[in-house]
Amino acid sequence: MASPPRYRRLRTTVLAVTAVGTLVAGILVDVGTSLAAPTGPCDIYAAGGTPCVAAHSTTRALLSTYSGALYQVRRASDNATQNIGLIAASGVANAAAQDSFCANTSCLISIIYDQSGRGNHLTQAPPGGFQGPAPGGSDSLANAVAAPVTLRGNRAYGVFIAPGTGYRDNSTNGIATGDQPEGMYAIFNGQHFNNGCCFDYGNAETNSLDNGNGRMEAIYFGNNTVWGFGSGNGPWIMADLENGLFSGANPRQNTADPSISHRFLTAIVKGEPNHWAIRGGNAQSGNLSTFYNGARPNVAGYNPMRKEGAIILGIGGDNSVGATGTFYEGAMTAGYPSDATENAVQANIVAAGYQPASVPNAGPAVGSTISLRATTACCTTRYISHSGTTVTTQVVTASSSATAKANATWIVRAGLANSSCRSFESRNTPGNFLRHQNFQLFMHANNGTALFASDATFCAQPGQNGQGNSFWASNFPARYLRHFNNNLYIALNGGTAATDSANLWRDDVSWVVTAPWTP
Ligand code: AHR
Repeated sequence: MASPPRYRRLRTTVLAVTAVGTLVAGILVDVGTSLAAPTGPCDIYAAGGTPCVAAHSTTRALLSTYSGALYQVRRASDNATQNIGLIAASGVANAAAQDSFCANTSCLISIIYDQSGRGNHLTQAPPGGFQGPAPGGSDSLANAVAAPVTLRGNRAYGVFIAPGTGYRDNSTNGIATGDQPEGMYAIFNGQHFNNGCCFDYGNAETNSLDNGNGRMEAIYFGNNTVWGFGSGNGPWIMADLENGLFSGANPRQNTADPSISHRFLTAIVKGEPNHWAIRGGNAQSGNLSTFYNGARPNVAGYNPMRKEGAIILGIGGDNSVGATGTFYEGAMTAGYPSDATENAVQANIVAAGYQPASVPNAGPAVGSTISLRATTACCTTRYISHSGTTVTTQVVTASSSATAKANATWIVRAGLANSSCRSFESRNTPGNFLRHQNFQLFMHANNGTALFASDATFCAQPGQNGQGNSFWASNFPARYLRHFNNNLYIALNGGTAATDSANLWRDDVSWVVTAPWTP
């Protein structure tokens, strides 16, 4: 592991601030006036008497005294790792350092450092009640470029959680246990969610198992209705308290918890003995609203709470790995933060200036007609082809039949789920696209669903072996379009399936875009 994050002298301007209101006013003058990062949420929590005991972000410093690395990336080409720190004074991640380190290969986010000074770093989640798709049953790591944003114009990357991806720290320092009070906030992409269990950030079991009611206290975001839910069709901010996602005291519906889908969403859960709250708002503007503030759920096992103090991101307490979502930053506190403190944190978040950005794309031009040739030594005359719905690589030459040539020809479309990426429509079967299903490639008619669009969208980067392009699945960003025994998959480098084999990985995922066999 690379050297741990470093800390900078606490600046007197911050030490002098005791009142939250004064600190919020200070945000406006702090930005860019010294080499320190701007005031962050953890300065505000500390001023409010509820200091951060965990602070995670791949986009910015969450306290002004932090000058260490925000996260670590690991690249596919040689498994080397690099810490990604801050652009001096801006407090924003040095995305250019990641881009340079990961050029012509791909990178995964391997560690999200704790900025609180307590060493509560998030790393690849181990197996628990459920297994992840990585070797040994661990969860996958996130593709480091799959959730791009800008903060006041500075590019940065969030953490894109696809089903199977998860981070965890089962051995923490200072996180609430038992019925101790705590607060937590996170910024999510409010438009990236599903109903799987469970896209969480917060407090969970230290053995990755379901140890019973009240063993967790985490922010949940999504439209799961197995347990509780709010008004409308979701998604909702809820509290995952173990064996239940709660929107209020009633274990089922609480209509005061609204469907909420801001592109950048501030989500808050806090709890103390027989009292907890859910709050939320638009991370780009305005104030927080309180969606629940009252007693613990009126079912057994949640009062008193029996929190264990691990930290999870993107998964359930028992390592349930069915959820999707995007995380940009979040923190956990010692003590129950006041609403005023959280309101000041929200003002700080808005001032950070989150904006969406496009996924970097090196793909073939939209509208062009192409063929895609394999680059592995075995197979350099083979092209991605379909026969009906079946997708394989086939040898195609000048003397191949007209049908074989047309079957190996694709029209490049803007990605159906993300216009920065690409979709591939069949040249001879209009309306049919390459898509993955159960991690294998097929050619299916576009049925207009969001799932189809996601399954048919691939994002291009320079080929991992230096030739052509590699394509990652937009909804499983750690998985790449790969041929294996002449069939096509979205494969996970070093994953547990035979098709995930590390052998020949870089060649198998690199495709040369050629002139079309059928113009
Ligand atoms: O509480 C909801 C989920 O139930 C938890 O996250 C998980 O541990 C259990 O399956």
